[in-house]
Amino acid sequence: MSGTVLVGAQWGDEGKGKITDLLAQNYDYVVRYQGGNNAGHTVIHGDVTLALHLIPSGIMYENCVPVIANGCVIDPRVLLEEMDHLEDAGFSTQRLIVSSNAHLIMPYHVDCDGASEAKLGDKKIGTTNRGIGPAYQDKVARIGLRMQDLEDEERFRERLAMVLTQKNAILTKVHDLAPYTVDQITEQYMAYAKRIVPMIVDTEALLNEAITAGKRIFFEGAQGTLLDIDHGTYPFVTSSSCTSGGAIIGTGVGPRHIEKVLGIAKAYVTRVGMGPFPTELMDETGDTLTQVGGEYGVTTGRQRRCGWFDAVIMRYAVQVNGLTDICLTKLDVLSVLETIRICVAYDVDGQIYKTVPSRQADFQRAVPVYEEMPGWKVDISHCRSYEELPVEARNYIEYLEKLAGAPLSIISVGPDRDQTIFRSWN
Ligand code: GDP
Ligand code: IMO
Ligand code: MG
Repeated sequence: MSGTVLVGAQWGDEGKGKITDLLAQNYDYVVRYQGGNNAGHTVIHGDVTLALHLIPSGIMYENCVPVIANGCVIDPRVLLEEMDHLEDAGFSTQRLIVSSNAHLIMPYHVDCDGASEAKLGDKKIGTTNRGIGPAYQDKVARIGLRMQDLEDEERFRERLAMVLTQKNAILTKVHDLAPYTVDQITEQYMAYAKRIVPMIVDTEALLNEAITAGKRIFFEGAQGTLLDIDHGTYPFVTSSSCTSGGAIIGTGVGPRHIEKVLGIAKAYVTRVGMGPFPTELMDETGDTLTQVGGEYGVTTGRQRRCGWFDAVIMRYAVQVNGLTDICLTKLDVLSVLETIRICVAYDVDGQIYKTVPSRQADFQRAVPVYEEMPGWKVDISHCRSYEELPVEARNYIEYLEKLAGAPLSIISVGPDRDQTIFRSWN
């Protein structure tokens, strides 16, 4: 068995970058399998802090091959910028490979993302405006362009010409935006192709051969369970499969090669963008979590909405991802609080739900049922073993574990790699 899948257990930004960077050194491949540069994964490597959007968080390890697999959507301009940024910071991007089947984000996708949001008005999703939704729309509509189209200018031009007729009609007639010419986009993308084509590989074959050769693969998820296109709080979701099943579809590796599924959950909950959030705090405690937790988006800089830990969505994440382990992050942020609340169930018009209601109208009206626990009120960011944590913190962890129904194997008490406690992970 050679595969570990990491997923966000909430609405994203749970600390996936830190944990991927921490664990990646023990793997041969680190693979992004869905999403695009809507992600913002923070990695602190020595005294360098990096915000990665598209490139897997294992890029810093020379023993590790970073892969952007077929389930991703790639904006080539952003990819090259990110590679340059890493090279400037002293990290080689020579080993990076991208799937021939990953879809390209085109300039009209970015335009349509913004224009669609503007049309939705106060019903907007609050997207990152990176063209993610429109790129996945075209993939499913079978009019997308893929990385392999960069390999042949004539084919690229031909496919683009076919698609651009529809796109220009939408841009000009629906959105009142300027059209593109085939020459304009072809010239721009062929310039990117010069650098990108040598990185394009049949990653499905490569990863399966690696497994046969006994190599270990780490699948780095982006976004989070509640942002999943099928299992999230639709329509306030992203357009890809962020749950563990996405790792299978998004790479072409079969499920029997997955040994562990690690869900990353904050010790409280945050959300960026619009959509229901039952435990959201609109008071001083919410502001405290924002400030102490530094809750501002890595990709868009937007302030993240903050709320209490929600055991209902945690249980749901265990269920839909088949989590074998949970990593609880940002426990140190709660150290400032006198008392801590945990949502153990929802009350929807008098009916008690212990798991996420499937009707969004019910989820929108869910009123959290809280239990309260005493805080610990001491700095825990220096703790390196479970026993060093104050008893109140251990009680909190053990109660969450019981509510979640899966082991809390890793506890993170600060952004640095060494600020981590391993309880039962091996
Ligand atoms: P991701 O998208 O899941 O990778 O998470 P982000 O990088 O968007 O946001 C997580 C933020 O929390 C980053 O600024 C991390 O450096 C930081 N972080 C991660 N783990 C911890 C932790 O245990 N404690 C604290 N205080 N910060 C953390
Ligand atoms: P990481 O990987 C948090 C949210 C957006 C919006 C919705 C749809 O850093 O956890 P999109 O641009 O994807 O169409 O936006 O999804 N969103 C994220 N929220 N963390 C992310 O990534 C996110 N990626 C997308 O805010 O609500
Ligand atoms: Mg993030």
